[in-house]
Parts: sequence; structure tokens; C-alpha cells
Amino acid sequence: MPQPLIERYRDSLPLEPGDPVVSLNEGSTPLVEAPRLSERVGARVWLKVEGANPTGSFKDRGMTVAVSRAAGRGAKAVICASTGNTAASASAYAVRAGLRGAVIVPEGKIAIGKLAQSLMHGARVVALEGNFDDALTIVRQLAERNPIELVNSVNPYRIEGQKTAAFELIDELGYAPDALAIPVGNAGNVTAYWKGFQERGTSPICYGFQAAGSAPLVDGSPVAKPETVASAIRIGNPARWEEAMNAFNSSRGRVAAVTDEQILDAYHWLASHEGVFCEPASAASVAGILNHGLPTVEGMDKPETVVCVLTGHGLKDPDTALGTAPSVINCQNDIGEVEAAVFN
Ligand code: F0G
Repeated sequence: MPQPLIERYRDSLPLEPGDPVVSLNEGSTPLVEAPRLSERVGARVWLKVEGANPTGSFKDRGMTVAVSRAAGRGAKAVICASTGNTAASASAYAVRAGLRGAVIVPEGKIAIGKLAQSLMHGARVVALEGNFDDALTIVRQLAERNPIELVNSVNPYRIEGQKTAAFELIDELGYAPDALAIPVGNAGNVTAYWKGFQERGTSPICYGFQAAGSAPLVDGSPVAKPETVASAIRIGNPARWEEAMNAFNSSRGRVAAVTDEQILDAYHWLASHEGVFCEPASAASVAGILNHGLPTVEGMDKPETVVCVLTGHGLKDPDTALGTAPSVINCQNDIGEVEAAVFN
């Protein structure tokens, strides 16, 4: 039986003795070796399949800890701004804890599966005429004015939970990988991995990748109107900016941009060559190492082992999949026709 993440790593998590464990048995996700990708990149590459978490993204790692602490403190409701996955996760964990949930999402810019999740879990779903950054500004103010717990990654318990992914990598491989490749949006996840690595006394090179139309960390200034097909990372002003830059600099890694075309190519290639279907934002990690390689600073060896974090499941965003994949073949109920359709 998979163990709740909080039980597995309790000693490293700042929960209070009386806090309930609000869990859906998250974490312990597959680390899948990627032989074809390894060949292309010239290093041994693994995929950390975070889409295998209960709500289909890495957000569950942080949410189990943040919602457990919120419930322990006697909160009655949780709120977040979200490009979709945080909303889905917060909605589910709120139900588990018996709390009310509210999520603010950019209107028309979240993948349909994520919307379905939040609605099914009974959260109050607000579609904002604005982007993620606008939504985050509003929820920060709402949480100051009302007795409601903010569960975005500005909440330190989210980072604490998410750092367990770094622990899992080390525990499963038996050593820390030489490098990590990770998509970057609000920059909570890379902050969390770096914290986890540091707590275990390790320093893998952190390569962060942003979508070219939403790349404030690469540009060095906020992006007022972020755009990208990878809606999960359509963010112009990351809340964890400083911490993320610290992770890239301290690990002697870097942050770089990948175009939508490169993201979609990697997304399709992974599904059709490694059998792993992730969402577009997740594929930014793979697009990044395919297009930028594994650069090092002078005097450092080229990384031999690399983990790409695949942050969310491909099923979250069927519209992008169906809009860019080959068509189905319609066929009459006739063996000859079916035979022709299958074999021609
Ligand atoms: N990949 C996916 C699938 C995401 O949903 C997110 C963030 C990221 C990568 C980037 O992680 O923000 O920690 O740098 N999604 C947030 C949300 C913003 O609202 O679901 P980050």
C-alpha cells in the first residue's frame, strides 16, 4: 500500500503533533528510465512521472502538507489562484479535510480536465478576466481580509511538501542525479527541489525552462502579457523569483526558454517514443534538454545522470492533444474496410 507522503517523510516536515494527515496517498511516483531520450541527449535520463499523483500533478505533494497544517490550525476554507493544477489539487484536498475550497483561474486559459476536477470536487470556481498574476494578487489580498488559508506556493508548507520529490529521487536512485530539468512557472517547484536536495547535502545542476512567451526569469523582468500553449506555466511574474534564481545560480545551472513549437514537439515525441503522456508544460523540461543540451560551467563535468520532472498528466489537457495529434480513421462496419484502415 502506498504510504501518505507525510508518513514517509514526517521527520523532515514541519507539521505539528496534533495536525490531521489529510492525504490521498500522494507521492512515491514512478521514476521511469527513458532509453530513447537518453540516446538523443547523450546522458542517462529518467522521467519523474508526477502525473501519477492522485489529482494528476505534483501539486498534491505540497497540498497534503499545506491542507493538513491549515486543518490543524482550525481553518474552515482554502483559496488559491491557479493555472489549473493547483486548483484541482486544492479542491480535492479541501474535500478530504472537510473544508470549503475556492479557486480563481484565468478565464478561458485553463485546460479542460483541470476545470472538470475543480468543479467535480465542489470548489467555488471563479474565472477571472485577467491572467494568473492578476489572480494571485487578488487571492493574496482576499486571504489578508478574510479567515481563509492561501494554498498557493507562497505558502511555505507547499514548498515543504514538494521538496519530498527530491528525497524520492535520491532514495530511489541511491544517489542524487547530476542534473535536474524542470519547467518553471510561479517557481515554487524548483525552489522546493533545491531545498530538498540541500537538506540531503546534495547539489544537482538545476536547469529550469520557461515558455518563450512567458519567460520573465530569462528576460530578467516581469512579462505583462504572458502567452504560451503550455497554459500551466503562462505566468509573467513568478512569486518565488529570488529563490528560483538562487537555485539556478547555486547549482551552477541556468534558466532558458523553449518555444511553443519545441514544447509541442517534445510533448508528442515523449508520448510516441517513450510511452509517457504528460501535459505540454511538463514537456518543457524535455524540450529544454533537447534544444539546449546539458551546459556546464568551465571545469565541471558534463552531467551523466539527468532527471526530467514531468509535472502533470497528459489527460489534463485533451484539447491540446487532440488539436495537434493525427486524426482518427472512421470506418464502416466491414472487415475489409477495417483491415484496410489498420494495415494500409
Ligand atoms: N508544470 C505544471 C503542470 C504546472 O501546473 C505548473 C504550475 C508548473 C509546471 C510550474 O510549477 O509554478 O512551481 O514553477 N502550475 C501552477 C498552478 C501555477 O496554478 O497549477 P511552478
